[in-house]
Amino acid sequence: MLCLIKGPYLQWPTMDSMTVMWETSQPSSSRVEVLAAERIHSGYQGNYKPPEHRVLSAFENDGDSTIHQVTVRNLEPGMIYFYKIHSENAHGSIESGPYPMKTAVRKGEPFSFTVTSETGGFSGFDTSNGQINIRIFDQMHRYRPDLALFIGDIVNDGNQYEDWETYFFGPGQPFLTSTPSYSCLGNHEDGASWYDDFFAFSPPKNYYSFDYGDVHFTCLDSTDFIPKESYPHSAGPIGPGQAQVDFLIRDLESASARWKIVYFHYPPYVSGGYQVEDLRQLCPIFEQYGVDLVFNSHTIVYERSHPLREGKVDYQEGIVYIVAGGAGAMPEWLLPKREWHTSQSVAVPHLVQVVATTDHLKINAIDAEGRLFDSMMIRKGPDDTKAFY
Ligand SMILES: [Fe+2]
Repeated sequence: MLCLIKGPYLQWPTMDSMTVMWETSQPSSSRVEVLAAERIHSGYQGNYKPPEHRVLSAFENDGDSTIHQVTVRNLEPGMIYFYKIHSENAHGSIESGPYPMKTAVRKGEPFSFTVTSETGGFSGFDTSNGQINIRIFDQMHRYRPDLALFIGDIVNDGNQYEDWETYFFGPGQPFLTSTPSYSCLGNHEDGASWYDDFFAFSPPKNYYSFDYGDVHFTCLDSTDFIPKESYPHSAGPIGPGQAQVDFLIRDLESASARWKIVYFHYPPYVSGGYQVEDLRQLCPIFEQYGVDLVFNSHTIVYERSHPLREGKVDYQEGIVYIVAGGAGAMPEWLLPKREWHTSQSVAVPHLVQVVATTDHLKINAIDAEGRLFDSMMIRKGPDDTKAFY
């Protein structure tokens, strides 16, 4: 019998397209229907609902597969739609949906996103109050973000097929059905091919970039810079001439968005433990090309740095480094004191929620019970001068 194993889940939103993925138990066909969202009114409450029969368009792939990836096109920017998936073969058929989805907004339009990582729960979950990753997925869903970033270690062992369901796609339902997600490689993914199979990032997939509203996002693969044979050190100097560094420079140089955010797994700045200082070789590139914010993980804490530039605190032009290792186990190795670069550091399960407008990035850190425990605002003036609140 044909069964739905994973998803559906959303990938790679643009202003006119969305990629829908799912996994079935057997090779089968792939079809996605896009439905118009109708605004309905019930008393004073407005709401959206999928219409019963208003199919705007349908997209399907040739041939059968178990991991399905269909890109639906000709959509409008910043619009809410609904979608349904359908697969069939000689043994049966599956259908799922309708689920809501929203296309990327235009430049100049506000949006929000969440950041967390470590859903793989390295060293075991505290299950006395439910798995941490499920609680964090639930909290993120409450904020209805336009997209979600995961900063690696979303599984315990990336080479184990079952791990992707156990730690990420399983607990991530239904959040991932309606929220496009991005991830980067952590050490626990171990460069496994399942990462390439389950995500629709642009090649070479372990690093990529995209625009959304007024933000340019760049994802790097820090496990490529810090191979496990030499961890926590780089195999050699990190700099131009390496494919990923050349990509980074070209990418940041050509990015025209108002804000630039970079994310990768190993933290160049964290006082909780597991700091990977060799990655500070990348910081002069971030500084030269106007990066505003860096997200890292690996250490299972929340930590926000002071704005940093040239290895010093700089509240004029610095870059804020945030470790968002929030959806995994409770830390057992926390170092006893902060470092000079630490502004706030709290070892609690959490998510980070960011609201991005043309002139402001509002950053909120929220715990597994939904309580705000840290926030900051970065404001950028017309001449690109920054202020931190
Ligand atoms: Fe890690």
